Amino acid sequence: RKRVAILISGRGSNMSALIEAARAPDYPAEIVGVLSNRAAAPGLAIAAADGIATASLAQSKFPSRDMFEDVMTQILESWNVDIVCLAGFMRILGDDFVNRWAGRMINIHPSLLPLYKGLHTHERALADGAKVHGCTVHFVTPGLDEGAPILQAEVPVLPGDTPETLATRILVEEHRIYPQALRLLASGAI
Ligand code: GAR
Repeated sequence: RKRVAILISGRGSNMSALIEAARAPDYPAEIVGVLSNRAAAPGLAIAAADGIATASLAQSKFPSRDMFEDVMTQILESWNVDIVCLAGFMRILGDDFVNRWAGRMINIHPSLLPLYKGLHTHERALADGAKVHGCTVHFVTPGLDEGAPILQAEVPVLPGDTPETLATRILVEEHRIYPQALRLLASGAI
């Protein structure tokens, strides 16, 4: 089984979906650690309660992003990580860190990429009058939200939707496709 670390910044519901999926005996990956850039991220406590190694590391405590990412690398190496999953990790990663994990780091993004890279995807889809919206699991490359997509799921945009109702509808799909995408990567299918 491939050894997977999950990077989070907050709630960690996608993290929980990956942890849950990895409980299946035939799942090709195990979650060996969860790293947060915020000590108060609720997902950290959830992972710790599941007996998973956790670490938190505030970028603001480091003189530079490179030094922050060097320590992240040391932690990931200490866990013998094969694959990194970004799950609501809300910091942009530097090229050196991204290139180190090329082909072995994936992210979930709440839009149908290449539409709506970056933040506030639901607000922007609603402002455009989009009829469909969704989420994408993709490889992480140096360009923000630009790596090759692995899986996508669509949802309809319904009359009366707010960013919150849309986010809730999409989150269900995120929790479905992220474990599927990790399975594809960890099994060597992609
Ligand atoms: C998810 O909706 C994820 O797609 C999004 O943040 C949320 C994290 O929720 N990610 C991004 O916007 C990345 N730019 P979670 O902590 O409950 O998984």
